[in-house]
Amino acid sequence: MFKINENFLKLPGSYLFSTIGKKVTAFKEQNPEKKIISLGIGDVTQPLAPAIIETLHGAVDDMSNAETFKGYAPDLGYEFLRTTIAQNDYKDHGCDISADEIFVSDGAKCDSGNIQEIFSQENKIAVCDPVYPVYVDSNVMAGRTGIYDTKSEVWSNVIYMPCTAENNFAPQLPKETPDIIYLCFPNNPTGATVNKAQLQEWVDYANKVGAVIIYDAAYEAYISEEDVPHSIYECDGARTCAIELRSFSKNAGFTGVRLGFTVIPKELKAGDVSLHSLWARRHGTKYNGAPYIVQKAGTAVYSEAGKAQLKEQVAYYMNNAKLVYDGLKSAGYTVSGGVNAPYIWLQTPNKMKSWDFFDYLLENANVVGTPGSGFGPSGEGYFRLTAFGSYENTVEAMNRIKAL
Ligand code: MLT
Repeated sequence: MFKINENFLKLPGSYLFSTIGKKVTAFKEQNPEKKIISLGIGDVTQPLAPAIIETLHGAVDDMSNAETFKGYAPDLGYEFLRTTIAQNDYKDHGCDISADEIFVSDGAKCDSGNIQEIFSQENKIAVCDPVYPVYVDSNVMAGRTGIYDTKSEVWSNVIYMPCTAENNFAPQLPKETPDIIYLCFPNNPTGATVNKAQLQEWVDYANKVGAVIIYDAAYEAYISEEDVPHSIYECDGARTCAIELRSFSKNAGFTGVRLGFTVIPKELKAGDVSLHSLWARRHGTKYNGAPYIVQKAGTAVYSEAGKAQLKEQVAYYMNNAKLVYDGLKSAGYTVSGGVNAPYIWLQTPNKMKSWDFFDYLLENANVVGTPGSGFGPSGEGYFRLTAFGSYENTVEAMNRIKAL
């Protein structure tokens, strides 16, 4: 009889956003007349920018003609996109990253879940708490996290780095030495950031202890303050300790189009084995590349017109972020985030449990958010709202919350 990967059985419940989806569907069935506003999952609502649509149409036409038709994409990504990314996201910002260190993919969620495959099962991971659940769950599936304690909601073989109001939601260097450190800034879910000096400390630490940092920069387009780094490669020494994940979902609305990339500098090595070559081998074996039309659309993100249109789109969402932030403040909530990130992190009123507040908000304001405890034990007593709704829905949701 075949045997399953029993690590999957260790996972508590279902994926956070699936659980929320099920609860909302059940509520809708019981209350079909209610107009529910979702500020839960960080999914965009604005249509693709005109420059992207135009390039997409052109790429579709390419596929209709034998001369310009494309079959399998190169498994590491089309040169035209990798060169554009290297120039615009890195070289133009003084970061030493070349096109052949960029691996194009169908999104940062897959990359952040898959990247752990190139590391031994013996590695110990460190994560921020609260944390984007994919980092932990994918390591659970790989059997790297030990035993789950249902009471404290922690894994025995994971180093948790609490991010709370006391430390401004920025993790401290852990007491126990990790092998793999997951960092995400601007942060999902708290919306917090670190400045360049703080990030440099992490890079120095990783180089000192021989750890690798997996740096998720999916929300970098939302940075509005000067001293906040857009890439970990702005820090000295990051080429020998850091992998960076980027996404087109949040900066360009590609959540339904799917495009992202991972950067692995060639100097990043375990002994004399480069992680770059391992990830290239993995990518080549398990992946046939993001579609041509999507990679073509990705180039439009960097065109003059695309940049201008996306700047407006990000500003649109950040205006929502301000509405939520200011609205909650005026209603007496303790709030953070929303300045360099599309997420607003609030303390639940009267120390209400996160899931209780979820139910309360759904039932009384018909607004969906994300319970902080779904991101880890230190998220208990917190709640996340996103700025990715439409302006009208955001205003309406805030009016309803303020009226509670
Ligand atoms: C979130 O809501 O945390 C994100 O949308 C999840 C994701 O990007 O996969």
